[in-house]
Amino acid sequence: MSSDQDAAHRAREAFTARFGGEPEGVWAAPGRVNVIGEHTDYNGGFVLPIALEHTTRAAVARRGDGRFAAASLQDDGGAVELDLADLAPGSPEGWAGYPAGVVTGLRDRLPGGISVLVDSEVPVGAGLSSSAALTCSVALALRDLVAPELDGPDLVEIARGAENDFVGAPTGILDQSASVLCTAGHALFLDTRDRSSEQVPLDLAGAGLALLVVDSGVTHEHAGGGYGDRRRECEEAARRLGVDLLREVEDVDRLAVLSDGTAEGELLLRRARHIVTEDARVLEVVSALRGDADPRTIGPVLTAGHESLRDDFEISVPLLDAIVESALDAGAHGARMVGGGFGGSAIALVDADAVDAVTAAVTTRFEREGAPAPRTFVTVPSAGARRLA
Ligand code: GLA
Repeated sequence: MSSDQDAAHRAREAFTARFGGEPEGVWAAPGRVNVIGEHTDYNGGFVLPIALEHTTRAAVARRGDGRFAAASLQDDGGAVELDLADLAPGSPEGWAGYPAGVVTGLRDRLPGGISVLVDSEVPVGAGLSSSAALTCSVALALRDLVAPELDGPDLVEIARGAENDFVGAPTGILDQSASVLCTAGHALFLDTRDRSSEQVPLDLAGAGLALLVVDSGVTHEHAGGGYGDRRRECEEAARRLGVDLLREVEDVDRLAVLSDGTAEGELLLRRARHIVTEDARVLEVVSALRGDADPRTIGPVLTAGHESLRDDFEISVPLLDAIVESALDAGAHGARMVGGGFGGSAIALVDADAVDAVTAAVTTRFEREGAPAPRTFVTVPSAGARRLA
């Protein structure tokens, strides 16, 4: 990982090479992994993410010609450039839609337009929120340059609006909240209904533990398909239960009324059961971490979360299951897929001295499955979005 200083320098130089002139500053925002609390965010429930060390950097400067220009060091296709007035969903297409969506959210503050140079170390398509890192780095830049009254939760909303309304990915607020609000050494316990949050200390290294991230290499795409289906299924289950949000159901037994003898009723029951039990798992993990409990005790709760995502929510894929199984067989205390599902990454909670053995076990399993060797790394709870220069 680049140091903040090196990252700022690289983004600055790249900005000047691409656009001429100096950027007004460089901002960074991280990707995330969620410790527990998956698909609860759009159900008004609880989440517990940490920020990754991996960040996306945005070097930004206002312009005078009313244009939006964006370039990325990870895209050699050249800069995207168009009039601010022409920004609209689908225009521009591709990755530039994310910063364009953020700029659109504050368009009246930027009459002269803006240039953005992006450089990212957050793996794309790995379920690690590269898109939130991108939107949040730009949102923070615009806050500092033209909208100083905005606070963290406002930035989360602007970034989410870019993703939902501009790019058309129907996500909740987990990723953007993690990217903006996380702090080093802590997991962010967020109630997505009233947006209250708490920084929960998470010193894994101090307990002789490590959090291993394994990218399955199966890429996912939230703008289409299964993610939106799950949202609709949760909404329908809530409607049949007579609640606004599944978060309001605390007792799993209440879900029995969904079972009406039809296949659809059974499916909605399973979807809702994941959400209700997942909210309970977040609370269980938070109370363990707040107390003196050995963090190893959260391992089985993480694994139960995976089983629920696999069996009730049905968003795992065979390679994610393979990571979890092989990590547990090799001695991990717990393991689960993270993020929206249908691909992406999994995490495993392992003793620090077992990282190599667990990594080797997962890699061997991938070989056996005929899959390319997975990318793996150990992560620690890192800082949220910040200005670098
Ligand atoms: C994706 C979405 C988030 C959240 C997770 C699942 O990452 O962007 O809003 O719903 O999936 O927990």
